[in-house]
Amino acid sequence: MSFQRSGRAQIIAVASGKGGVGKTNVSVNLAVALARAGGRVMLIDCDMGLANAAILMGIDATFTIGDLLAGRCTMDDLIRPGPGGISFVPGHSGTGSGSTLTHSERTRLIEALGPWLDDFDHVVIDTGSGIEASALALIAEADMPMIVVTPEPTSFIDAYALVKALAVAQGLQRFQVVANMVRHDIAGRELFDRFRGVVTRFLDLNLDYAGAIPDDPYVREAVLRKRCCLEAFPGSGASKAFGRIARRLARPDIQPVPAPAELRLMGEANGTY
Ligand SMILES: Nc1ncnc2c1ncn2[C@@H]1O[C@H](COP(=O)(O)OP(=O)(O)O)[C@@H](O)[C@H]1O
Ligand SMILES: [Mg+2]
Repeated sequence: MSFQRSGRAQIIAVASGKGGVGKTNVSVNLAVALARAGGRVMLIDCDMGLANAAILMGIDATFTIGDLLAGRCTMDDLIRPGPGGISFVPGHSGTGSGSTLTHSERTRLIEALGPWLDDFDHVVIDTGSGIEASALALIAEADMPMIVVTPEPTSFIDAYALVKALAVAQGLQRFQVVANMVRHDIAGRELFDRFRGVVTRFLDLNLDYAGAIPDDPYVREAVLRKRCCLEAFPGSGASKAFGRIARRLARPDIQPVPAPAELRLMGEANGTY
């Protein structure tokens, strides 16, 4: 069972090996940034352990995916309007049965979502952490698995384990990588280059650099305010970075991310570095 659609919805699954690396913040802000870039966007919270996306947007969800799966509501009841005009599908927290959907839950969710997908240009899925089979199977449903990595060695190692597991168990070969909580753009690019170096030494895979998000206190402040950073602090470094990543995803034919050497040259040219 996989997503059947005739339109051109691009399905992005935001994933990581380790929890706490910023998947939910990336999912929410990327979804809003894609909407700002002109796309019709659906955001689905598929983290069945810690469904946090609603909290980050200050949305009081009446129904959750759990209610849909239990037959207590329809997709019409479930979908909520979110910031920037996105359509939000709230996740279901705390069943205690793990952070991902079971095989039959995933099949039923995909069936229910199917007719809706053609109305969207981008569908962003916030996934649970970990590398158990059900998590891998959900990520494999996407056109674009997007791996979030931070400079912490544990994040790096766990992202490697996730990419390897997705390649071995699901046959995935192409990944987008976001460097989150980095000191600056060059550090993000270097983190990506190091990650790609390790991955391609052992595995025959393609890794694309989606871009870097700075470690930005405005992201934490937005979380405290239950607002998405892009709305609460549009001028912050993180919000601008989300905008750049969204524009690149919306128009893959433009703006490859410059390599560090080119960035340095650009910086020297305009005196930024
Ligand atoms: N770019 C960033 N700058 C600063 N803090 C961040 C950034 N991204 C995430 N965080 C913080 O990290 C914590 C975990 O983020 P979250 O999105 O919930 O991670 P995950 O969904 O991977 O578990 C949050 O408290 C959030 O404020
Ligand atoms: Mg999360």
